[in-house]
Amino acid sequence: MPLEPTASFPTLTVLDHPLVRHKVTLLRDRTTPTKQFKELVDEIAMLMAYEATRDLALDRVPVDTPLETTTGWAVRGKKLTLVPILRAGLGMVEGILRLMPSARVGHIGLYRDHTTLEPVDYYFKVPGDASERDFLLLDPMLATGGSAAAAVTSLKRAGATRIRFLCLVAAPEGVQRLARTHPDVSVLAACLDRELNEHGYILPGLGDAGDRLFGTR
Ligand code: PRP
Ligand code: URA
Repeated sequence: MPLEPTASFPTLTVLDHPLVRHKVTLLRDRTTPTKQFKELVDEIAMLMAYEATRDLALDRVPVDTPLETTTGWAVRGKKLTLVPILRAGLGMVEGILRLMPSARVGHIGLYRDHTTLEPVDYYFKVPGDASERDFLLLDPMLATGGSAAAAVTSLKRAGATRIRFLCLVAAPEGVQRLARTHPDVSVLAACLDRELNEHGYILPGLGDAGDRLFGTR
């Protein structure tokens, strides 16, 4: 069962599923190699997408079974858009696309300045009809919340009005900053961690998600 929003974190839902908790523990483990780390991010993202798409719009469609014609349902997947925040968000895309292959994919390029911890943006591309779309903004880490808040601001500038943020590990500081800046954006996380350290890393966290996904350091 997902953990519902609370008074301190009104925008946050934590996906408290045994499989997710198991896989997040493997992600945290410093000895987990890059290949397995990538597979785990992919699998957790897919499980999260299942929860995040509970209220997707459906159309009634006719379907011919071997015996007769009946009415079924089709997801309006074409209007769903995934937007990974580069780099680490890329690791969440394929798992979600396996569930919704017709979703479109935009990209937002941001990195955190190591000194100020503020986001620096370098790329933005989403489908043109943003106002008609449902966006799932993807990034494994919500730390200070600066990157997520800046990405949402860019999406809204492009016309987006329906945005959800999916992350694997959230820090209380990041959830609260995003909620202050964009109270309309709900957050689905695989876990809510304790705090940030003095370098803006999440504790206990999993380290640098981009480096662990792509084997850089
Ligand atoms: C990481 C992470 C988020 C951001 C979170 O990216 O993937 O985008 O930090 O931190 P914040 O909430 O304090 O903004 P990073 O800046 O390391 O870039 P990378 O993915 O290119 O390595
Ligand atoms: N970005 C990461 O990749 N990890 C953190 O702990 C914080 C920001």
